[in-house]
Amino acid sequence: MTRLPQLTEQEAIAAVCRLQEKRRETGKEPKAFVLTFGCQQNEADSEKLRGLCDAMGYGVAASPEDADLILVNTCAIREHAELKALSTVGRYKHIKEGNPNLIIGVCGCMTAQAHRVDELKHRYPYVDFTMEPAAMGKLPLLVYAALEKRGRLFLLEETGDALEGLPITRSEKHRAWVSIMYGCNNFCSYCIVPYVRGRERSRESSAIISEVKSVIADGAKDITLLGQNVNSYRSDMDFADLLAALDAIEGEYVLRFMTSHPKDVSPRLLSVLASAKHVEPHFHLPLQSGSDGILKKMNRHYDKAHYLSVVKALRKANPEVVLTSDIIVGFPGETEEDFADTLAMLEEVRFDSVFSFIYSARKGTPAAAMEAQVPSEVQSARFERLLALQGEISREKNEAYLGKTVRVLVDSPSKNGKEGMYSGRTDGGKLVHMQAAASYIGRFLSVRIESATPFALMGTVVPNQ
Ligand code: SAH
Ligand code: SF4
Ligand code: F3S
Repeated sequence: MTRLPQLTEQEAIAAVCRLQEKRRETGKEPKAFVLTFGCQQNEADSEKLRGLCDAMGYGVAASPEDADLILVNTCAIREHAELKALSTVGRYKHIKEGNPNLIIGVCGCMTAQAHRVDELKHRYPYVDFTMEPAAMGKLPLLVYAALEKRGRLFLLEETGDALEGLPITRSEKHRAWVSIMYGCNNFCSYCIVPYVRGRERSRESSAIISEVKSVIADGAKDITLLGQNVNSYRSDMDFADLLAALDAIEGEYVLRFMTSHPKDVSPRLLSVLASAKHVEPHFHLPLQSGSDGILKKMNRHYDKAHYLSVVKALRKANPEVVLTSDIIVGFPGETEEDFADTLAMLEEVRFDSVFSFIYSARKGTPAAAMEAQVPSEVQSARFERLLALQGEISREKNEAYLGKTVRVLVDSPSKNGKEGMYSGRTDGGKLVHMQAAASYIGRFLSVRIESATPFALMGTVVPNQ
């Protein structure tokens, strides 16, 4: 059986660098390609993988064909996410055939499951290693072992939190993801995250505060605090106090955070939200279902009445707050009546937008073994009805911005590819398209909103007086 080299991470980085120097003498710079699936937590992890690749002397590969090292950072939240990652890995087979020295590593949430690691081991023999999220810091050891052709390695059942102190190469200057905690203790009955990300671990507040100070000093304007359940953050302080401490840092920036759990919204958090200078007037509060019976089966620890009381308190703290949510359609046992309760909640709360998902059974979770799995045609039909209703509500919500001038942080050229169009976000996180220029990226502008769809606002930049 192949073993990890007996080196520290730092020694492995140095050893890889030495091997790369030899390569460079032959006139070729080694390059790494990092591909990310999944949520912002994975985006943040990939910036750490990129940081480690930089430390090991790998340049950035423009495509997998151009790479000496490929890392696929996978997601396991729904079956579709796993199938996408597996088919991507499958496509790398021919690249490896053309370049036997290519190293392919698969990491992220999918590789924290024994059955998927088994599958990668046996059906994808060109994959050199897998590394579950908790083992990310071991990347240099794995790359070193692969360069030395010591054999394949599969890191599973890692313990501890190796993620503090890793180098980070952020992909954008104006935007920074900052993980404040890892893992989840909630065990919602449908969800794979607690199994693949492990138990909740909060970072030291002092490490978070100095990281946020340093990204602000480096020019970050849009800072997102990440965790599966940020409001259960706890170290020497709780989330409300952490937010207040970060909000006190001088500068022109927006502090965003996700995700919050409806059972953990404290009065102290509401008062910080009401008085903060930098914290976004946006709250992402996943509802999942509007039926009390289904919420109970989901193990969500709140009912409809509690959820509505949190919404009321958030709107009292800030009447302008943008509210968004996640909904799962077709959870096992969901009846037409349960689904009608979900639609009724959408009408009652009137979220600005909703991310909706068709329930996907995840191996090993309690919900996957529940009776009365809903047939996929029924799931799809309900999903369409939900999209139609929320589309109408989101359109109305966005039309309320017509004629208003809002502050927008410019992000990137618009994805629609139209010449001169850029997109950005309001303080509340709404997507805005406007005519702008590359030099505006990372700057706050005043934008007058002139049209709206359910998904975005369109406007014109108001020149500074
Ligand atoms: N920690 C966050 C979000 C985790 S995943 C939270 O608790 O809200 C993001 C969303 O994916 C969830 O809110 C849920 O709506 C959805 N999701 C999770 N597991 C799912 C599954 N098995 N099938 C369909 N959607 C799922
Ligand atoms: Fe999954 Fe629930 Fe944890 Fe969110 S809170 S990550 S939905 S188990
Ligand atoms: Fe996916 Fe893992 Fe995020 S399962 S949604 S990448 S925490």
